[in-house]
Amino acid sequence: MALIRAVSALLATGLAVSATGVLLPLYVYPSAEYGDGAANWQPALAAIAASPNTPWLAVVNPANGPGATGEPGNGDANYVSGVSQLNAHDNVQTIGYVRTDYGAAPAEELHANITTWASWTAGDVGVSGIFFDEASAADFDYLSAAITFARTAFGARQIVAACNFGAAVGAEFYDICDVVVVFESYLNNPEYPAYEGADTLDANTPDFSYRPQAAVIVHDFVGSAADGQSADTALLRKYVQEAKEDELGWVYFCSAGYETITAAPATAGALAAVF
Ligand SMILES: *[C@@H]1O[C@H](CO)[C@@H](O)[C@H](O)[C@H]1NC(C)=O
Repeated sequence: MALIRAVSALLATGLAVSATGVLLPLYVYPSAEYGDGAANWQPALAAIAASPNTPWLAVVNPANGPGATGEPGNGDANYVSGVSQLNAHDNVQTIGYVRTDYGAAPAEELHANITTWASWTAGDVGVSGIFFDEASAADFDYLSAAITFARTAFGARQIVAACNFGAAVGAEFYDICDVVVVFESYLNNPEYPAYEGADTLDANTPDFSYRPQAAVIVHDFVGSAADGQSADTALLRKYVQEAKEDELGWVYFCSAGYETITAAPATAGALAAVF
């Protein structure tokens, strides 16, 4: 009854039950100078603050993983500051980076990194999930075991398991991953799934009902798209609005690689502004 009332209340206010969010690979080092309060992340923090109705998933990545020290924030005051500032926003969840090397990373190493992420409990520096990069659809059991390990490692804390395949995968992966990256490429790739609207996006997800779990990541949003449209703010807005209409769970657009969030036109701020 309570759930039905809650859903009715949401419908009554006209809010969608699920909203398209930003899946941000935040691979920028937090600070320009030691102790500057995560100056390099301020554009992302400002974008998050400016879009309170947009969910954000921020992937934290000190060193292709949680870093060598094993300590919360990798024992780095700049990471402690940056992650705790992210966590201070209600519309953000931070998730920790690991890479499965397409199923080739030794399970012990992967699990040890997940254990480290789960141990970032000091202060406000905790993460609430894991980003499994370089995930392979060729080895379901490997990924399934890693995700089960993660859900156990975080104990009572409910986590987000995000799996980056960068390609379409079968329905069984939507049972183990909360977020499934179905496309990751540069803008000028003719396979970008939204060129033809919902039809080609359908090809990247097993069924319409899986859309809210699916994510599309586009880097090098510069020059023009493969169909000749200019990579400008209008195209960014168009893609984001299409993603929302298509009930896609997550998108990310940036104009260079993931090492910067300030390259124009698809800066973090510009992305937040077109939601
Ligand atoms: C584990 O974390 C370390 C330190 O961040 C990183 O060098 C290594 O590549 C990671 N391994 C996996 C499988 O995530």
